[in-house]
Amino acid sequence: MTATGRLVDGFGRIHTDLRISVTDRCNLRCTYCMPLEAIFKPREELLAFEEIARVAAVAAGLGVRSIRLTGGEPLLRRDLPELVRQLRRVDGIEELSLTTNGLLLAEQAADLRHAGLARLNVSLDALRADVFERIARRQGLDRVLAGLAAARQAGFEAIRINAVSIRGLTEEEIVPLAAFCRREGFHLRFIEFMPLDAEASWSAAQVLSGAEVRRILERDVGPLLPERQIDPGQPAVDYRWADGAGRVGFIDPVTSPFCDRCDRLRLTADGQFRNCLFSTTEWDVRAVLRGGGGDDEVATLLADCVAAKRAAHGIDTPGFERPARAMFQIGG
Ligand code: 5AD
Ligand code: SF4
Repeated sequence: MTATGRLVDGFGRIHTDLRISVTDRCNLRCTYCMPLEAIFKPREELLAFEEIARVAAVAAGLGVRSIRLTGGEPLLRRDLPELVRQLRRVDGIEELSLTTNGLLLAEQAADLRHAGLARLNVSLDALRADVFERIARRQGLDRVLAGLAAARQAGFEAIRINAVSIRGLTEEEIVPLAAFCRREGFHLRFIEFMPLDAEASWSAAQVLSGAEVRRILERDVGPLLPERQIDPGQPAVDYRWADGAGRVGFIDPVTSPFCDRCDRLRLTADGQFRNCLFSTTEWDVRAVLRGGGGDDEVATLLADCVAAKRAAHGIDTPGFERPARAMFQIGG
């Protein structure tokens, strides 16, 4: 831990954002994230809500201010609103958000809202059912759309849609997604495909860059104006449509890495701290919690994790090493 009790790494980056995965299970099998036949962690290896809340409280004491719940698919974790309630009670946490594939949102949006969840990100890469199914390897588009409607009905505002771009697969979806989000008032963000797919079939040639997506949007939809960056830690570069109908953002981890302003830490569903999506090392907080360790030991472990953070992911360098875990086992 540093003298100020904040989570500062060797490059001066202050960590205020914790991504917590609550399960590695999922009801889709997106090619960029999961294998078709996945092996999941046994339940007893997943952190209990009380354990998660305890880690969150220690992290908040070290300056973490926002928490995002992820998976796998977090809505598959039984009684998730109860975890939201527990995290709402953690002193210092100012923002609580969730990333979901939306399949179970129609059933759960209202409960999550009542529990105090502030913000929602919904993953949606395609609006044509056949393209959705080629990517997700399961059906579900109608349920995602119903989930989005239910989320809005439940009172969620500024809902974000995350769309992964893959060359040869999603080009034709770009304009329909933009039109849909403009019409419905969702904030769309395109994300470049990162080498975190379980089948390790990623290649640089499959990366459809944010710049290319933006050119397509400007050509076929209309001009975009750069938006003022409010949160310096946010990875997305946002634009607004010149006609005033909404915004669109680009998260370009491959072509424009934002590691130099990264403020994120991760906790996997099985209780491992990671300092990066691309970490090749993990810090076992589950062992500390279940070994009777105190909050000071949890804090020390988290500080160690932060201290070891590398300058950048290095996807574009010759020595790049893929992490052993795929996206569904880390949390987006
Ligand atoms: N590259 C980029 N984005 C990914 N996601 C999952 N796997 C990848 C990948 N390999 C996205 C999902 C979701 C978020 C959790 O991360 O689409 O929006
Ligand atoms: Fe499930 Fe999300 Fe991974 Fe798709 S990207 S398989 S929806 S966890």
